[in-house]
Amino acid sequence: MLQNKVAVITGAASGIGEAAARLFVKEGARVVLGDIQGDKVSQLAGELGGDRAVAQDADVAAEEDIQRLAATALDTFGGLDVWCSNAAGLPAAAAAGDLLHAGYYGRTGLYSSEALMESLDAAEFDKQVQVNLRGVVLGTKHAARAMKARGGGGGCIINTTSIAGLEVNCATHGDPAFVAAGGKHGVVALTKLAACELAPYRIRVNAVAPGYTATPMLAKVMGLEGASKEEFVAEVAKASVMPGVALLPEDIAHGRLYLASDLGRCVNGHTLVIDNGVLAGVAGYVPGLKVPVGV
Ligand SMILES: NC(=O)c1ccc[n+]([C@@H]2O[C@H](COP(=O)([O-])OP(=O)(O)OC[C@H]3O[C@@H](n4cnc5c(N)ncnc54)[C@H](O)[C@@H]3O)[C@@H](O)[C@H]2O)c1
Repeated sequence: MLQNKVAVITGAASGIGEAAARLFVKEGARVVLGDIQGDKVSQLAGELGGDRAVAQDADVAAEEDIQRLAATALDTFGGLDVWCSNAAGLPAAAAAGDLLHAGYYGRTGLYSSEALMESLDAAEFDKQVQVNLRGVVLGTKHAARAMKARGGGGGCIINTTSIAGLEVNCATHGDPAFVAAGGKHGVVALTKLAACELAPYRIRVNAVAPGYTATPMLAKVMGLEGASKEEFVAEVAKASVMPGVALLPEDIAHGRLYLASDLGRCVNGHTLVIDNGVLAGVAGYVPGLKVPVGV
């Protein structure tokens, strides 16, 4: 589905980015993979094959690194068709290890006192916004320039927000995943804005909004970094709003494939939610990791 396409994926060394890299190459694309985990992303590119994938040590907080990713796509593979802004770090509060089940607002989800606004660390907040929002905006800037440079061939930019970028309420405050909400909400707005700006050039701009997905990021939030992959996925499946159905990185990668391929050729300015129904407010739940009532 992506024959002759060239894609850049940021944060490709792990989780959803890695799954997208594998899927895109399987579907015929050539990929430029960026990550701050240089060794890991190089290993992945080596596995995918030098003619299909190149790796770059790239921090999306640095504009010059983003610019280099776009330049590599042009120089190495002769163009740029798809740009996936996927990279994000975890708020420090999520790794603080004081997650607990809070018993007010009727919530039973994740909670950390360090994720409350009154205890928010300004430097930490700036870091989050720099990667989750500014990194996405600069990705759009350099992707659009590279796509236009090829002479009106169009293109597709796929940003990454979160259910935390679409929903904030009394039941989600203090959830470490939602500390990043400001940045992730911004991604939704800027995706629409960029879609308007770039539609005349046939460059589509969309976003995916994953729910709780079984990646190393979620393992950290759930305190399950030491668990085997099978144990971890089983825990995510147990907590899922669709009992037994864990959202996997591949599920989000499939959404990206839809948006990147001709299947999604008329989809523009859209945020594709892939979350097992959490955001729809599946009866008896509020957003957050929860065990279904009565199960
Ligand atoms: N896993 C979830 O439950 C979930 C839910 C909602 C949204 N998301 C979003 O999905 C995306 C992928 O997350 P994931 O779960 O695969 O996480 P992950 O931690 O498994 O992978 C994220 C990757 O991004 C890289 N990265 C972090 N900061 C970077 C930077 N400044 N520059 C370049 N690379 C950087 C990391 O090294 C890592 O390889 C993120 O945008 C995340 O916010 C994930």
